[in-house]
Amino acid sequence: MHTSSLPALCCPQHGQPLVARGAELECPSGCRHAIRDGIPRFVANDAYASAFGLQWLRYQKTQLDSYSRVPVSARRLERCFGPAAWSALRGARVLEAGCGAGRFTEVLLGQGAAVASIDLSEAVVANARNFPVGERHVIAQADIFALPFAPGQFDAVMCIGVLQHTPSPEQAIAALARQVRPGGWLVIDHYAYTLSWYTKTAPLFRAFLRRMSPERGLRATEAIVEAFLPMHRAVRSSRVGQALVSRVSPVICFYQALPELDDRLQEEWAFLDTHDSLTDWYKHFRTAGQLRRCLVELGLDDIWAEDRGSNVEARGRRPSN
Ligand SMILES: C[S@@+](CC[C@H](N)C(=O)[O-])C[C@H]1O[C@@H](n2cnc3c(N)ncnc32)[C@H](O)[C@@H]1O
Ligand SMILES: [Zn+2]
Repeated sequence: MHTSSLPALCCPQHGQPLVARGAELECPSGCRHAIRDGIPRFVANDAYASAFGLQWLRYQKTQLDSYSRVPVSARRLERCFGPAAWSALRGARVLEAGCGAGRFTEVLLGQGAAVASIDLSEAVVANARNFPVGERHVIAQADIFALPFAPGQFDAVMCIGVLQHTPSPEQAIAALARQVRPGGWLVIDHYAYTLSWYTKTAPLFRAFLRRMSPERGLRATEAIVEAFLPMHRAVRSSRVGQALVSRVSPVICFYQALPELDDRLQEEWAFLDTHDSLTDWYKHFRTAGQLRRCLVELGLDDIWAEDRGSNVEARGRRPSN
């Protein structure tokens, strides 16, 4: 499974190199890891992330910059990486943790990086359909808490839109930091605390939707968006109007944040992000100070953490030996 430009996959339990035998990868200690749809699988199931798997298979292209024709993901990723890490991407080995359908995979590959994309869910299938495996791209279904790579091999490890959905963001950050080589970068973001989440009806809807089967949760979200999005559309250019509609509507819409998206894309993005926010099993919040302290405790240098309203973005660099 080794490509010339990316670290070889290894057994998450034993850290040993794997040998391909038929549709399995074998570890010398006896573990067998299936290869399904051409993708190595290091988890028995998608645990708490099955709704995400369905979401990314359903909305496979929605947030790709090449599909929306607006560089939303590229702008966000460049800001999170910062000038030094961003300018070093060509030829770099990047671990993308929680890849989803690949909005950031596309940007990283476009910047000339070699990308190992992992996700706990069936999103890996959507990612492979969008960006087939090759010299500069490997994909595995794997857990951030049991990664199939030896430590310290990546020039950059990025994890965006993910940590808040894991059982322990701090432990996830620590696991990711171990994958960074000396002198390499860890680039992350996290939901921030916002009063507006608690003053909306969304937590109420979420209490029901996250307990539904993924299929029912998806259908319920689509019905909710169909019911409420016209109200958002009617006041699309009014910030106050959006705030008022949001008191009753749990729909996440982009009329204010991304007015350049046409009506069809507005609808798709609303379906996708509303589903994401109402069906996630874990939803944590952190401040910029908390992320900064976490990166300091992990021994990283050049730490940057910034509150951007609903999100906190942060990065740090592992000291060179
Ligand atoms: C909101 S999506 C973001 C996907 C992508 N980064 C993006 O921004 O489009 C969160 C993803 O994290 C994945 N995820 C959650 N917990 C994970 C874990 N422990 N290990 C790997 N992936 C995980 C989910 O399956 C899901 O695809
Ligand atoms: Zn093993």
